[in-house]
Amino acid sequence: MNIVIMGGTGFIGTLLTRYFQQRGHNLTISTRQSSLYTASSTQKASNIKYIAYNKTALSKVLRTSDVVINLSGTPLATGRWTMSQKKRILTSRVKSTQLLNQIVTELATPPKLIINASAIGIYPEATHSVFAEHSLPSVSKSSSKLPSKLPSKLALTTKSSFLTDVCTAWEGAFYNTKPPKASCRKVCLRIPVVLERSGGLFAKLYGIYKKGGGAILGTGRQGLTWVHGADFVRLIDFIIQTPHINGTINASAPYPVEMRVFAEIMAKRLQTSLLPRIPTWIVRLAAGERSFLLTEGAYIIPDYLLRKTTFRYNYPTIEKAMANLIPS
Ligand SMILES: NC(=O)c1ccc[n+]([C@@H]2O[C@H](COP(=O)([O-])OP(=O)(O)OC[C@H]3O[C@@H](n4cnc5c(N)ncnc54)[C@H](OP(=O)(O)O)[C@@H]3O)[C@@H](O)[C@H]2O)c1
Repeated sequence: MNIVIMGGTGFIGTLLTRYFQQRGHNLTISTRQSSLYTASSTQKASNIKYIAYNKTALSKVLRTSDVVINLSGTPLATGRWTMSQKKRILTSRVKSTQLLNQIVTELATPPKLIINASAIGIYPEATHSVFAEHSLPSVSKSSSKLPSKLPSKLALTTKSSFLTDVCTAWEGAFYNTKPPKASCRKVCLRIPVVLERSGGLFAKLYGIYKKGGGAILGTGRQGLTWVHGADFVRLIDFIIQTPHINGTINASAPYPVEMRVFAEIMAKRLQTSLLPRIPTWIVRLAAGERSFLLTEGAYIIPDYLLRKTTFRYNYPTIEKAMANLIPS
């Protein structure tokens, strides 16, 4: 199978690349890094090719591809959320989605499956509610309009409203165009925190806890919606192989947990103790508005996957996931 990954050089893209490469698929990764796609370095491995992240290069390769997965976007957890950084976070996602839509609608033979990333950040912050896909109204076309200027309230916003705005615009851009052909599927993945030793939140916390610096951040009651990296890549494979899957999917494990529980299990498995709880305002002082990624959260379940598919998780609970990620 020919699979294209836009933004495939990042944390999740690398997990997917390794998984599909091991299964003998041909991968094409679009990147802005010219050192990767220049002629001398295109053949990193026999079934991986790098191309430039632009319309010409992508159009050429998407013509003969079966699946395209778009993960492109300015990282959320790097750099302070200044107004210009927020704008980059928003525009990079909406523009890459618009680029992909534009390309596939112009192709005579578009890929049969288009997967676009979104995030569980679309759900509002809530300590006492559980959200499923149908908890939100479907994202309307109007939300795809990219605001030329971010509303000034974003400067003082809560995590929920900034990320909700970003994800709503991101998903709106994706659904703004119809599938190029009736046989073509469009899947929007609301991605939770992906737990893997190689990167993301888990790798950061692992290093801190190992040095004895682990602590409950904020109240500890905020929801952590997560998925094990191994289940996440299996899920993408499952989506590719399951023709009836279409539309918006929460790509999370079935049992989100309180951040406090996550911290306690991690400390226990690493045989370390937790430092005293760090109040929300201190985390905010240290990390600015980006701290909402850690101190706010929501409990989100993969209702669509559980009710409408036969997908089975190898790591449905945080205990199982942690036992795999931190073996005793
Ligand atoms: N990691 C998680 O736990 C998680 C959770 C929820 C949602 N997500 C979403 O899933 C997607 C992938 O996540 P990730 O953790 O793999 O992210 P990542 O490691 O930051 O990788 C993002 C990719 O996007 C590309 N990129 C960065 N800035 C860009 C820009 N301005 N325009 C176009 N491309 C750009 C980069 O490719 P080049 O630099 O090579 O061009 C990179 O490969 C992201 O959109 C993220 O928001 C991730």
